[in-house]
Amino acid sequence: MSTPSSGGAAARTIVRGGLVITASDETHADVLIEGGRIAALAAHDSDAAAAWTAGAVIDATGKYVVPGGVDAHTHMQMPFGGTTASDTFETGTRAAAWGGTTTIVDFAIQSVGASLRAGLDAWHAKADGQCAVDYGFHMIVSDVTEHTLKEMDVLVEEGVTSFKMFMAYPGVFYSDDGKILQAMQRASGNGGLVMMHAENGIAIDVLVRQALAAGKTDPRHHGEVRHALLEAEATHRAIQLARVAGSPLYVVHVSAEQAVAELAAARDLGLPVFGETCPQYLFLSTDDLAAPDFEGAKYVCSTPLRPREHQAALWRALRTDDLQVVSTDHCPFCFKGQKDMGVGDFSKIPNGLPGVENRMDLLHQAVVDGRISRRRWIEIACAAPARMFGLYPRKGTLAPGADADVVVYDPHAEQTLSAATHHMNVDYSAYEGRRITGRVETVLSRGVPVVDRGSYVGRAGHGSYVPRATCGYLD
Ligand code: URP
Ligand code: ZN
Ligand code: ZN
Repeated sequence: MSTPSSGGAAARTIVRGGLVITASDETHADVLIEGGRIAALAAHDSDAAAAWTAGAVIDATGKYVVPGGVDAHTHMQMPFGGTTASDTFETGTRAAAWGGTTTIVDFAIQSVGASLRAGLDAWHAKADGQCAVDYGFHMIVSDVTEHTLKEMDVLVEEGVTSFKMFMAYPGVFYSDDGKILQAMQRASGNGGLVMMHAENGIAIDVLVRQALAAGKTDPRHHGEVRHALLEAEATHRAIQLARVAGSPLYVVHVSAEQAVAELAAARDLGLPVFGETCPQYLFLSTDDLAAPDFEGAKYVCSTPLRPREHQAALWRALRTDDLQVVSTDHCPFCFKGQKDMGVGDFSKIPNGLPGVENRMDLLHQAVVDGRISRRRWIEIACAAPARMFGLYPRKGTLAPGADADVVVYDPHAEQTLSAATHHMNVDYSAYEGRRITGRVETVLSRGVPVVDRGSYVGRAGHGSYVPRATCGYLD
């Protein structure tokens, strides 16, 4: 097997002999890459494929050839909870590549009192020249003003087409219903998509204070005060606000069965309401949050992990398309020096879990376990997030003209997830010891090798900023 050179954007590469899987098809096909894009696909052993010549040939015999993953929810080096997420854009995108993800959409943050522009500029400065794979930005709107609303129009034009708002975290990112309604009204006019952190943060803060006053300080109480019904209530409210505004809605990190029911009911009405869940809600539970010796802090995130029974509803919704996307909400904090800020007070544990490197593998394990089909794996991890956030068909599929973000995936390799072997800059794995069948073998980003048969060959700065179109589910 020869290897494409890392400088060769214009070079031709053939990925030969694999099973090409997209959200819609599975075919034994060869893939021709030229100038960083997919030039053609042709049946393996066809005359057309046999006639191709290239400087490099990647042998994918016995492997899957899939689009690079699109992780539409990451927080690299995000200041949060009195500290900063431990992956930088450099380390986090490198880890993403190791795990077969070739595009991330991260969240730029508007500080209260500042403009969206200032927040976006700051995030560009952090990411510029640092990323191993391509990246785009959503905008967190923390301060809805007349000026902010006007800026939303400009950002949509520039390719920042989605805006996260928070019904949680009063005093930090929280917006009240009136502010949310105004932003949704603006989005309904400019093509933007409001992404909602749907938890009733006002009620939760009361429950937090009551729990702490009662001496309930352990990490597991984080899950108890962030009640599933308060996620469902906020989800319902967000849907009604979006209906009144006439805007679409995307609910992030859905974890509660009751919240899924709200989304499903809205979709049954034909409303443009979409939902995302994350691997932690599919594979972890309050059992992890209750781990002794403060180890439960490793699993503190919001929305919180739920009792195991909720997982079946999430898997079902992924199969029935009541949930469309699995992103990671990658927001890592080290156990030592960061999570331990909350010893004796769970409300001081920085919220967030690592996972950008694990998503494609965990979802492949779901294929192996019979929970989802191979094509649904690619749909929820690549195609749907790309389409949702205006990146499709450039990202999320393997078709002529698409960026040659290609993963050669060995479906039979065995691996054990562990902090000892992962590449995320965090001192624990949320999936420590979990056995996975399947592993990323080779990753190309726009035709350039980033991972080559299990070795990292990428570089900071290869990844480019990608402006996005508006949501592809509303066309
Ligand atoms: O716990 C979480 N989810 N941390 C990241 C911030 C957010 O709300 O997505
Ligand atoms: Zn959130
Ligand atoms: Zn998040």
